[in-house]
Amino acid sequence: MKTFYIRTFGCQMNDHDSERMAQLLVMQGLRPVESPRQADLVIVNTCSVRAKPEHKAISEVGRHRQRKQAKGTRIVLAGCVAQQEGDRLLSRAPYLDAIIGPDSILQLPEILPRIENGHGPVIAVDLHDQRNPCFVPLQEKRRGQISSLVTIMKGCDNFCSYCIVPYVRGREVSRPLGDILKEIESLAESGSREVVLLGQNVNSYQDPDSEIGFPGLLEAIDRQGAVERIRFTTSHPKDLSPQLIEAVAGLERVCEHIHLGLQSGSDRVLKLMNRGYSATEFVQKTESFRRAVPGISITTDIIVGFPSESEQDFQGTMEVVRSVSFDQAYSFKYSPRPGTAAAKLPDDISPQVKAERLATLQTLLNQLEAQSLARLSGRTLPVLVEGSSTRDPDAFRGRTRCNRVANFTSAVAPPPGKTVEVRMVEARGHTLWGECSLTSGR
Ligand code: 5AD
Ligand code: SF4
Repeated sequence: MKTFYIRTFGCQMNDHDSERMAQLLVMQGLRPVESPRQADLVIVNTCSVRAKPEHKAISEVGRHRQRKQAKGTRIVLAGCVAQQEGDRLLSRAPYLDAIIGPDSILQLPEILPRIENGHGPVIAVDLHDQRNPCFVPLQEKRRGQISSLVTIMKGCDNFCSYCIVPYVRGREVSRPLGDILKEIESLAESGSREVVLLGQNVNSYQDPDSEIGFPGLLEAIDRQGAVERIRFTTSHPKDLSPQLIEAVAGLERVCEHIHLGLQSGSDRVLKLMNRGYSATEFVQKTESFRRAVPGISITTDIIVGFPSESEQDFQGTMEVVRSVSFDQAYSFKYSPRPGTAAAKLPDDISPQVKAERLATLQTLLNQLEAQSLARLSGRTLPVLVEGSSTRDPDAFRGRTRCNRVANFTSAVAPPPGKTVEVRMVEARGHTLWGECSLTSGR
C-alpha cells in the first residue's frame, strides 16, 4: 500500500484522531491523496452520536466496497461506530479489512502489514487502560498549521441519558500538564499560533500530578506564552466555575468564546437528560460570562423531541434561547442510541413534531446569529490570518477572537499566522466580510 485517504465524520475529536492516523501512516511511508479513487487504503472515521451520521458512515464504507473488488483497495472503519459495534459490523460489512476504535489508533503500524497481506479482518477496539492512558504523541510536527487541536483529556463520566459518548470513549482521563505544555511548545516551533484544547468536558480537567484544574491549565498555557490564542471545547454548564469565568476574563491569550451545551430549556427534561443544572442556573452562568467578558461569543447544542418533551417544555427551550441570545448553535432531533438510559424511554415524539420544533428553533437561532453578526459589522477586529479565502481567491481568510470566520480584502497579502486589524463591512451567511488596510506584508 502506498497511498491513503481518510474520510472523517463527527466532532473535532474525530478530526484530531484522523490527523493522528494520517501522521502515523505518513511515518509508515504512505502518502495522502485527494480522493478515495487514488487510494490503496481508505479509512472511514465514524461518529455514533446520532443515528444519521452513523448511517452515513456505514453507507460510505459500502461505496468503497466495489473499489475493493475492482482493485484491491483496503477498507478500514475507525472511530466511535467501530468502538461501539466491534466485530458485529462484519455481519453488515464482511469486506472490511480492519475495525479500529479511537483508543487503538497507535496500533496502526502493526495492523497495516496484516491487512496488506490479506490477514484481515483485524479488530482493535480496546478502551484505554485507566492507569496508562495513551494520548498518542505527535512525532511528526504539523508544519504550516496556524491553529492546532491539542487533546487535554479523553472520555466522559457524565452519562447524559441520551449520549453514547461515555460508552464509546470510556471514562474521563486527563493528560499530564507537562505533556500538554511540551506539545504546545513544539507546535508553536513549527508555526502554530493558536491551540484548541480538546476534551468531552474540559471543565473537569485535573492534572494527574498536581492540584491544577482547568482554569490553572489555561493560566499555565497563557504564562508559557508559546501561542497567541488559546481556545477550548467543549464545556459542561454544571462544572462551569467562577474561576473559569475569571480565567477567560483575565488571561490575555484565552479567546472570548465558550461553547456550552444547553440541550434543553425545560427543568423537567434537563432532569431526564441527567444534565445536573436548571434552566435558571444556565441563564445565570451565561449572564455572569457576558458581564465579565464583554463581546464573548456563547455557542451551544440543543436537542428537540427528547422522550415526553411537551409543547410547554419546548417553549421553555425557546425562552432560554431568547434570553441567552446565543451567537451560534447546533440543533438536533433526538435520536435514541442503543444502550443509553434514554433509549429505555419511549421515543414518543413523532418525526413530524420533531421536525416542526427543529424548524421553529432554527428560525429563532438564525435570527439571533444574524443579530450577533450585525453587532460586529462596522467594527475593527483583530483577525488571525489562516490563508486565502475559500470563497474568493483574491480575498483572505482568518478568525476573530470570538471564533467568527472573517474573509477580507487587503492590498498587501498578509502572511498566514499574522494577526491583522480588519474592519468588518457586512455579514454573508455565517461569515463576516471586511477590509484590511495593511500596507506591508511583515
Ligand atoms: N440525539 C440527538 N442529539 C444528540 N447529541 C448527543 N446525543 C444525541 C442524541 N442521542 C447532540 C448533543 C451533543 C451534540 C454533540 O450532539 O446536543 O451536545
Ligand atoms: Fe455526552 Fe453529556 Fe458527556 Fe457531553 S457531557 S459527551 S453530552 S455524556
